[in-house]
Formats: sequence, structure tokens, C-alpha cells
Amino acid sequence: MVTIDVNGRALAVELGATILAVLKKHNIRVPSLCNMDELRPTGSCRLCVVELENPHKLVPSCSYPVAEGMRIHTHSPWVLETRKTIIELLLADHPDD
Ligand code: FES
Repeated sequence: MVTIDVNGRALAVELGATILAVLKKHNIRVPSLCNMDELRPTGSCRLCVVELENPHKLVPSCSYPVAEGMRIHTHSPWVLETRKTIIELLLADHPDD
């Protein structure tokens, strides 16, 4: 077990689990598109992006494992703006789908 912080809330979680799996388990909703339980995560759509504090970056939560002391923001302005851009790019590339 490791301890992480999600949106200011400390959680004890299983080492090796992905961020998205942990968020789902704790009823913290993050959108996802390409993640399916039957398939290995590919991190291809990036819709599940979350913000890490250290190192400060965005990562796809479906394919990024948790680590001790990780600080995660699921709905920061940076995350929300990035998800919006990702949707716009998906729709621009698949206008009739
Ligand atoms: S759900 Fe597609 S990259 Fe995570």
C-alpha cells in the first residue's frame, strides 16, 4: 500500500494500480474513452488526463501507476482545458463519426 493525495484527500491505495483504477475505486470520476477492462491500457486518447504536482505534468491516468506521495489533481483548470482541447481535436479529426 502507498499513500497518495487526490484533490487534497489522502488515500491509501494498492501499489502498482493505475491512477484511473484508484480513482474509480474511490468514486472520483474522470472521463475515459479508450480504456476498457478487457484490454491493456494504451493511453491513446488522453481523455483521462490528470495533473501531477511533482514532477509537474499531465499524465494519462489509465496507464500511469500510482507511487508513494503522489499528488494528483483531477479537475484543475489545466486538466479541464486540456480535456476540452482533446475533445475538440477528436471531433475535428472525426467530424462524421
Ligand atoms: S482512457 Fe484513453 S488514454 Fe486513458
